[in-house]
This record gives sequence, C-alpha cells and structure tokens, in this order.
Amino acid sequence: MNLAYKYNETNTISLNFEDIYVGSLILVNYNHQLNNIAIEKNINLINLNDEIKLEKTSINNLLELVKVSKIQNKLAFVSGFRNYKEQREIYTNSLKGKGFEFTSKYVAFPNHSEHQTGLAIDIGEKRKFIDFIRPFLPYDGIFEKFRKNASLYGFIERYKKNKTHITNIAAEPWHYRYVGFPHSHIIYEKDLCLEEYIELIKNYKFNINPFVLKYKCFEIEISYLKYDSNNLEINTNNIPTTVSGNNIDGFIITQWRNCNGNL
Ligand code: DAL
Ligand code: ZN
Repeated sequence: MNLAYKYNETNTISLNFEDIYVGSLILVNYNHQLNNIAIEKNINLINLNDEIKLEKTSINNLLELVKVSKIQNKLAFVSGFRNYKEQREIYTNSLKGKGFEFTSKYVAFPNHSEHQTGLAIDIGEKRKFIDFIRPFLPYDGIFEKFRKNASLYGFIERYKKNKTHITNIAAEPWHYRYVGFPHSHIIYEKDLCLEEYIELIKNYKFNINPFVLKYKCFEIEISYLKYDSNNLEINTNNIPTTVSGNNIDGFIITQWRNCNGNL
C-alpha cells in the first residue's frame, strides 16, 4: 500500500488502525498532526525535479495537468515534500525573520504541514525572484486554465481566502493539494475546503447511504466508515474500490460503478 490509496478489485479489503493515517484524503492541519509511523512507512516519494520530491500518484497527475494547461515554461515548482526537520527549519527561520503573526498565517507548525505528506506542492509564476514562502501564482491569464483543470486531475487550491476561519491558514493561492479525483471535483464544485469535505462525507455511511456522484458514464459512491475494531474487513462486492484514511477516526471509501451498474 502506498500513500495514495488502498485499492482492490477483489471482494474484500482489510483495514487496520494504521490505515486511518494514510491515503490521499488525510486531513493534516492545526488540529490533526501527521502520524509519523504510518506516513514514513507508506509514503512513495519520487523526484519531480532535481530538488523536489512528491508522492508518486500526485506527480503523475501534476505533470499531466501542467501539460494540458500548456504552462510548462511559465511556472516554477517551489516546494514539495518536506521532512520534519525541513519544516521545523522553515518555521523557526520564519519566526526569526518575520515574527509570529506572519509565521502562524503562512507556515504550518512542524508535523502539522501538508508538505510532510508529499501531497502538497507550492507553485509560482516563473520570475527572476520567487518568494519561497509566498510565491505568486496569478488567477488570470494562462494560469486560469491550470486552476480550472486542477480539480480534474485530483488537485485542490487548499487555502482559499473565504475559508481562513476554518483552515487557520491565510489565503495561499500557490498551495495545491492532491486529494484525488472525484474528491477534488466535488470540493471545487461545492466550494469547500478539505475540513468541510471530510465532515460532509461523515454523513454518508458505507453500505447505508453513500454520496452518489454521476460523472460521465460513472456512478461514483463515496462513503465514510468509522474505525471501530482492528482487522476490519469490508466487502466490496467486486466493485473497483479505493480507500483512504481521514487521519482522524476512519476511512473514506470510493466505489466506481458504470452507468449500467457494476463495472
Ligand atoms: N504553507 C503551509 C501552510 C505549510 O507550511 O504547510
Ligand atoms: Zn505550501
């Protein structure tokens, strides 16, 4: 199992306690810190370029997104995966240089940063000088297409201006987070932040009342399963299924049916 998803086409998926802390939908914020043991054991990092690493599925989708948006020569990847030590260094340097108010708005406390999951990437417009903490990524011009396409490739703009009271982080137009499709699409269409999405899905229980998204020829069912005992086994009825932990208390299960029922 890698960080992206637990995927299975057979009838059952076994889940245990550690699985709560891995997957593309883990919520890492000021309230929920990263579970180091689970992450370091499962993360599948590869190089995006000489300096930046990201989780494998995120990279594949990011490169495709950049290609279809035709902005290869216009953007700069500024920051991707950071380990604990790197995040701590960025935090303490910012604290020294810019003070507490600025730092608490723009730099997550060590072990509370999405950058430590390998699922977050800071992207800036290519310029002579790029601010490492706050790179500039416009909303208009050629970047408009990139932003529109992002949700189709599993990415969300994570810290939007209208959600700062929930995320506790200031608007960061440059910070994109991979959550995977179709979650990115729903988050985008409903103008939610990840905190709100995780809460929303808790209302849709696995095998009882899933959230149903009709997308092209698919009926995609998304549901929540609370962790209640070790070695939990779920029956997928042979439907292609992916599972991600939420980093809190359970799992988000995604099942793909085509228009005529099972795939
Ligand atoms: N800039 C974001 C909040 C981080 O440091 O993870
Ligand atoms: Zn960032």
